[in-house]
Amino acid sequence: MLAVRPASDAATGAGLPERIERLRQQRRAVILAHNYQLPEVQDIADFVGDSLGLSQQAANTDAEVIVFCGVHFMAETAAILSPDRTVLLPDLAAGCSLADTITADQLRAWKADHPGALVVSYVNTSAEVKAESDYCCTSSNAAAIVNSIPRDREILFCPDMFLGAHVERVTGRTMHVWMGECHVHGGIEPAHLDAVRRQHPGAELLIHPECGCTTSALYRSSSGDLPGPTTVVTSTEGMVRRAAESPASTFIVATEVGILHRMEKVIPGKRFLPASRGAVCQYMKMITLPKVAASLETLTPRVTVAPEIAARARVAIERMLAVPV
Ligand code: 13P
Ligand code: SF4
Repeated sequence: MLAVRPASDAATGAGLPERIERLRQQRRAVILAHNYQLPEVQDIADFVGDSLGLSQQAANTDAEVIVFCGVHFMAETAAILSPDRTVLLPDLAAGCSLADTITADQLRAWKADHPGALVVSYVNTSAEVKAESDYCCTSSNAAAIVNSIPRDREILFCPDMFLGAHVERVTGRTMHVWMGECHVHGGIEPAHLDAVRRQHPGAELLIHPECGCTTSALYRSSSGDLPGPTTVVTSTEGMVRRAAESPASTFIVATEVGILHRMEKVIPGKRFLPASRGAVCQYMKMITLPKVAASLETLTPRVTVAPEIAARARVAIERMLAVPV
């Protein structure tokens, strides 16, 4: 029987990291956290990273329990890849506005309009949508996945229109792209970027491909319209890597603000400025230390995927993991 948590811990967070560490060992659990998680959640995790890194960790873990500090589709992906493990999502309401923009029924109807087309679905989709897909992808490998498909094949890409446009630009391919967007990244506007860039003209610009401002920023950089040495479009983990390697010392970061904690921790001494302080994903912030502790104590809430759906979704995810990036 595991110890009952004192009420004061839940209220103040005091002692929670130690309690979580004890429970983690008792449960033989691994704690995986996305780069957008609250700082204190990132700090107690065994691994912090982007969707691709988290999927790889979930696929290869020896742990009996996976505590997923992220959003629902990420925990589902872990449950699909590790069906024998207990996958916990400390708050089941942690969803994703982008994943909600396409249902399996909508995808089936879209496929019926394009017989013979291959479907590439972003990892930000439900398990049912992945089960209807040929390939899964993340922001780290979307271009590599599309490049691995013969050029004469028609492609349906869903659900993020900005990532789709970015992949078309990078690969030189034309795809049918679903018109979904993430409300957080969609809310980072070109005007936000321009304002920060004018204040910090020497800063390098790091943009997540889900941002609607990507096209305009790339165009304005290449046309010399805005000062600034470099613009890099990449995943959250790609941003961390790029900032570590870049000669620049100041970066404007166009994605959810949770990444700033990770960057400041991994790369002390460099300066990271948010493109928009309002870029906060309320779903990611639903995961808190008291909920992580409660989840480990009770082994709930659990995320499971029906075996028939999981088997089909796994094909799309494993095809993705097999493509070298
Ligand atoms: P990354 O895979 O780049 O971390 O992105 C996940 C996500 O949800 C972005 O909003
Ligand atoms: Fe979904 Fe957007 Fe939140 Fe990422 S930031 S989890 S895409 S709602």
